[in-house]
Amino acid sequence: MKTKVTESGPPLFQDLPVQIAPPFSFGVSRYPIWTKNKSQLIDRYLYYFILVTKHGSYIDGFSGPQRVNDSDLWSAKLVMERQPRWLRTLVLCELSPTKVRMLEELRNAQPPRNATKKEPRREIKIIGGDFNANAGAALQAAQIKDRTAAFCLLDQRTFECHWKTIKTIARFKSVGHKIELFYFLPIGWLKRAFSGVRDNAILDRWWGRSDWDELKNLASPDIASLVCQRFRKEFGYSSVVAWPIRNRRHRGSIMYYMIHATDHPAAPKLMGRAYRKAVDPFEPLEQLSLRGILQDEAVGSDHAGKGNR
Ligand SMILES: C[S@@+](CC[C@H](N)C(=O)[O-])C[C@H]1O[C@@H](n2cnc3c(N)ncnc32)[C@H](O)[C@@H]1O
Repeated sequence: MKTKVTESGPPLFQDLPVQIAPPFSFGVSRYPIWTKNKSQLIDRYLYYFILVTKHGSYIDGFSGPQRVNDSDLWSAKLVMERQPRWLRTLVLCELSPTKVRMLEELRNAQPPRNATKKEPRREIKIIGGDFNANAGAALQAAQIKDRTAAFCLLDQRTFECHWKTIKTIARFKSVGHKIELFYFLPIGWLKRAFSGVRDNAILDRWWGRSDWDELKNLASPDIASLVCQRFRKEFGYSSVVAWPIRNRRHRGSIMYYMIHATDHPAAPKLMGRAYRKAVDPFEPLEQLSLRGILQDEAVGSDHAGKGNR
């Protein structure tokens, strides 16, 4: 018999069957996102985000480059350099001092504000150290007011982002739309990674509870489904969708999900379009309209993230 996993804490009875939300209906996608395209997905989504908001604050909690020798796939760089430069505040956090220096070099290499292109004054703030300790400072630095549109990338490697940190960000705004989250959920190596962790407190902090061991009994889509449920129930997001990111070399198996949590009504469709178009040439912004995008997504979508809205 498998153990029941509940949303509210450790199970009361150990011998009940697994009973969580229906699994995701991820079909075979015509538009798979491979691991190497993740940063393009982030970049493309923020392009659409800007189309809607015309401004915004961006927080990247784990912002150093995954590969120090391949800055073309570095999401902080893509987002910083993306035009139009309408994001007003970027807060980039990073633990590694070497990567903090890379972030500073990247910031220093940015061109000055182009007033003729109506670029707003932009602030790029870099915070070195553990993001879990610095999340409060990052939120203050992001200058998020009631009407500020804000997006936070939590692109951890495996277990670095504490559940409490997600909660801090999700609950930060009490008026207006909550800060949108894009959270990395490891899948392909999750069960192996559990056994490599010597100190269970690391997993307790990552999962925010001590029943992470029960994830070992679940299939990957069910783990994603459970995380989506927790984001909705514990943080109050109206839409939480897990977008699969696949490994091209391992027969397209899912390596991880990027969990998109938002309560902006247009955002899930914008993410759907970003997922479909992540590697296509960018559409000129002046030819894009939110209404056009929403219509396209209503009739023609065939992206992979379904369910759990
Ligand atoms: C997966 S990488 C981020 C990849 C990046 N988004 C990209 O596009 O290349 C995770 C980053 O988080 C950093 N990191 C690890 N633990 C951290 C922590 N507790 N606080 C802040 N940064 C951390 C690592 O040094 C690494 O640069």
